[in-house]
Amino acid sequence: MESFPVIDLGKLNTSERGTTMEAIKDACENWGFFELVNHGIAIELLDTVERLSKEHYNKCMEQRFKEMVASKGLESAQSEINDYDWESTFFVRHLPSSNLSEIPDLHEDYRRAMKEFAGELEKLALELLDLLCENLGLEKGYLKNVFYGTKGPNFGTKVSNYPPCPKPDLIKGLRAHTDAGGIILLFQDDKVSGLQLLKDDEWIDVPPVRHSIVVNLGDQLEVITNGKYKSVMHRVIAQTNGTRMSLASFYNPGDDAIISPAPSLVKEDDEPSQVYPKFVFNDYMKLYAGLKFQAKEPRFEAMKAIATV
Ligand SMILES: [Fe+2]
Repeated sequence: MESFPVIDLGKLNTSERGTTMEAIKDACENWGFFELVNHGIAIELLDTVERLSKEHYNKCMEQRFKEMVASKGLESAQSEINDYDWESTFFVRHLPSSNLSEIPDLHEDYRRAMKEFAGELEKLALELLDLLCENLGLEKGYLKNVFYGTKGPNFGTKVSNYPPCPKPDLIKGLRAHTDAGGIILLFQDDKVSGLQLLKDDEWIDVPPVRHSIVVNLGDQLEVITNGKYKSVMHRVIAQTNGTRMSLASFYNPGDDAIISPAPSLVKEDDEPSQVYPKFVFNDYMKLYAGLKFQAKEPRFEAMKAIATV
């Protein structure tokens, strides 16, 4: 079996640029996921973000999680739980405006590190969007411009911890879903695994690689590429030992961005049923809110039926 794609982004500036672009193209077409090393984000910054995220969980989040588990009786479950995830999370918004100063209980060092981390991830997301454009034969800046709408993209980080779980077969760390948005950059624990993606009907582990960034494609890139690239189902299996940290940063279109297949990626002889819908991004998000843990195809069909733009 092919192994999960790990791509050395540092090779883009060498004579191996061609094979690196090819590896990204193959990962986008066949996996919807890849892992980047030498991505340009300083290792010291990643170490700081990891340390402060874990400290913050231990100090401010762990107790709250335990209370939630006790109040829902999750530990004594006897059958599969389908309406909760075994995760502790909070969300930091970076764009169009930051909410970092409004989140309570964050240490000043953590706020500073998160701000710097977000700036670096934003740069990486934009670089990746242009690499995708190049592979797709779209002009440079095409995806960035589509995502911009009139007020700029939505960009934020979901900080998650998955504590040790006594019954990982009955409750998922995070139930299976595809991501709604654009491109997602994940900084995950390098020791405690648990992220899996669905490929050819099999769940495959996304291996922890120290200081790597895992990239995956959301539903919007599937629409814009008219299905050439696909968003892929993934989930988190909580572990019985060890707390897993994961920081997922979502670089998404702006609320009023109009999403539709790029004209050059729709073939003239495509049947109407083969062409993805056109819609306002926020309308998709409203639909997604209630259907996150279901298959994406009915969401695309529902957007076709609404056809508001
Ligand atoms: Fe996800």
